[in-house]
Formats: sequence, C-alpha cells, structure tokens
Amino acid sequence: MEQPPRPTTFDFHGVCMTEIVTGNWDNVQDFKARPDDVLIVTYPKAGTTWVSYILDLLYFGTVDPDRQTSIPINKRVPFLEMAKRTLPTGTETLNQLTTTPRLIKSHLPVQFVPKSFWEQRCKIVYVARNAKDCAVSYFHFGRMNKSQPDPGDWNSYLEKYMEGQVIYGSWFEHVINWWDKKQTCSNIHYMSYEDLSQDLGREVDRLCAFLGLSPSAEEKENLKAAVKFDSMKENKMVNYSTVPSMDQKVSPFLRKGKVADWKNHFTVAQNEKFDEVYKQKMKNCTLKICSEI
Ligand code: A3P
Repeated sequence: MEQPPRPTTFDFHGVCMTEIVTGNWDNVQDFKARPDDVLIVTYPKAGTTWVSYILDLLYFGTVDPDRQTSIPINKRVPFLEMAKRTLPTGTETLNQLTTTPRLIKSHLPVQFVPKSFWEQRCKIVYVARNAKDCAVSYFHFGRMNKSQPDPGDWNSYLEKYMEGQVIYGSWFEHVINWWDKKQTCSNIHYMSYEDLSQDLGREVDRLCAFLGLSPSAEEKENLKAAVKFDSMKENKMVNYSTVPSMDQKVSPFLRKGKVADWKNHFTVAQNEKFDEVYKQKMKNCTLKICSEI
C-alpha cells in the first residue's frame, strides 16, 4: 500500500508536534475518562509497549487469554491522541471499547492531559527512560516508521532532540513536568525503564500495589516470561509487525531493549555536550534516572 509522505513538525502551544498528534485535538481535550480508566504515559520510546503489555496481562491475562493471541497491543491499549488520517482516531477507538478497565496509552506532556482524567482521579502510570537511550531509540524509530518525520543523520537528530525539536518536544520538560505533578498527585505511579530492566519482579509488585491487584505467584511467573524482550520480539501481537507504516527491516520496533545502548552511538564530543545540557536542564530537578546499570 502506498504511504503518505512523512509528516512535518510545527510548534503547538510551545511543544513540537505533528498532525498525527494534534489532528483530533478537540475530541482529545473533551475526552470523557471513566474512573476506572488506567492511563499509561511516557515520553516516546521509554518502554510504553512493555508496560502496556504488563498491564494488559495483569488485568486480562487470565480472564481473557484469547485477547493476547488475537488482538494486537495497539488495539488492546489504544493511543489516546492518535489521529492518523487512514485509521479511526484514538478517541473513537476508546469510546467503542467495551472491556473494563480501559487501558489507554498517551505521550502527552502533562499540561495537555484531558481534564477528565484529573476529575475522575484515574490511575496514571508514567514511565521514564534515560534521555540518552530515548534519543537513540527515537532516532531508529524515525528511520523505520514513515509516520515520523525524517530523522536525518544521527548528529543532526541529536541536536534537534536536545533542543526539543522532535515530536512531543523536550525530553527534559516531559519528565520534569510529570515528576513535579507526581509530587502532589497520589494517583500517579512514576517508574523507570531502567528499574524494570534491573528488577522486573519488584517493579511488577510495585505496579500491583499501586493498581490494587494481587495476581497469584504462578500468574506473575507467566507474566514475567511473556514480557521478556526475546518473547515480545517474537510475539506478533506485541512487536508491531502488523503496522504497515513501520519497516522492521530498516530497524525492528523491538530493537535492542538494553540500558546504555547509547554508548554505541554517542561520540565522546556528543556525550560531553549532552552531559552539559543535561546538567543545566536538570539542575532544579530531584529526579534521578541512571543511564547505565
Ligand atoms: P530500543 O529501541 O532501545 O530497543 P516504546 O514502546 O515506548 O516505543 O519503546 C520502545 C523501546 O522499548 C525499544 O527500545 C524497545 O526495544 C524497548 N522494549 C520494548 N519491550 C521491551 C522489553 N520487554 N524489554 C526491554 N526493552 C523493551
């Protein structure tokens, strides 16, 4: 099938965006969240699919096993702000969902979250990933996904990324503003990709405590096996092989799944510059995310 041209970015209320994010804006802002909705929010490439799959298994793994083998993850956990011309919008898909709770994916900066999620006090899981690995993963995602702007070469991409000129804007503003919000909002669970990589069992337990779920030991073991990188990479229902805009031969969606792959991409000079920018931008923030484990 012929693909539309790659999108261009523009400034949207101070954040770099594309039509695919802003094209259904009024419906997104007016979205009627339900009290039992669970919102999963990340800056792109922070492990959204990983955590979405964990949550889907926690809620539906035993009650509806067919769901895991017949419905791709992007349909099980719809993308709230998605507005691709050729597909139903995220809000249309969500409004038609009959299963509860609805698991909802979003990359929105905190200031853009529809107000009904706050009014309904929905549970929100925020996943952060270190800035350097996010940059590398986002770069390769741009190469393989024609719904993304052309990333260009790695060096110029990294410059754009540091300036927040990629879709959803600055990594710094995203993780900092969500971190600040978390300090006053007990319905936000703030977790990291690195913690998940380091101790999956502990992080699943923390998620369960936050969500009020108590899976059996056997269910947890099954879940941990299913969400391993290699298992997910082979699983057509979670590896995005069903999405036509993604060319997995250019770069697989489940690419490396490692902490500190940035070391294979950053030159010494790029790393020094990035560390300077990081120090400056994060100077007033108490959040610590390790970029190697
Ligand atoms: P890499 O490109 O570094 O491999 P998102 O789902 O937010 O788009 O994030 C995608 C990133 O999460 C990719 O990172 C992908 O490989 C990684 N990922 C997905 N599932 C994973 C898993 N089970 N274990 C480790 N990393 C995973």
